[in-house]
Amino acid sequence: MIPFNHLGWVFSRFGAAVYPAAAVSHLCTSLRSLPPGADLLDLGAGTGTLGNYALGCRDDLRPVAADPAEGMLRYLPESVERFAARAEALPFEADRFDAVVVGEALHHFDVPEAALDEIARVLRPGGLLFIYDFDPSTLLGAALKRAERLLGEPGHFYPPDTLSALLLRRGFSDTDIRHGWRYTLAATLGA
Ligand SMILES: C[S@@+](CC[C@H](N)C(=O)[O-])C[C@H]1O[C@@H](n2cnc3c(N)ncnc32)[C@H](O)[C@@H]1O
Repeated sequence: MIPFNHLGWVFSRFGAAVYPAAAVSHLCTSLRSLPPGADLLDLGAGTGTLGNYALGCRDDLRPVAADPAEGMLRYLPESVERFAARAEALPFEADRFDAVVVGEALHHFDVPEAALDEIARVLRPGGLLFIYDFDPSTLLGAALKRAERLLGEPGHFYPPDTLSALLLRRGFSDTDIRHGWRYTLAATLGA
């Protein structure tokens, strides 16, 4: 297992480097449709890299972070409300958020499909889901999957079209994918 609880310092300094400009640009475009002061959940937030990028796109968002590793959450900006929680059992009421963002974290979840159920539950109708992850059907994605599994990680990497199908079954539509070994996917709940 990757000891995320002890890697907060590393991610807080170097986590942003994993995001290509195209991913951030897709994030900013996707967030444009949100209402003013929208509630945003950064899920598998770690030290808040993706949430910080989201605030860079729109500083009116109200961010909340969830991650089981308190050693990562410690490095979040003070203004961000945080919850030590697993994606498979979120401590939020239904329809709590206008957007959920998941940055290079879905493949680390023990049961990603349970996490997708939870995301659909806590998102408001019309809410936005934005995911950044790695495509295991590409050479680099496959290498990363092998490396993570050797480290004892779950390594639940989904090709974007497989993820898109899982989301369709949960009521998401308008799926917009930017393909690459590092891909981004934006989808709307119940639109
Ligand atoms: C590679 S880090 C990414 C952190 C951050 N999103 C970023 O982009 O820098 C993966 C994160 O997923 C978290 N994680 C692992 N299992 C999880 C689960 N079941 N539910 C929520 N987060 C989880 C880890 O604690 C870690 O902080």
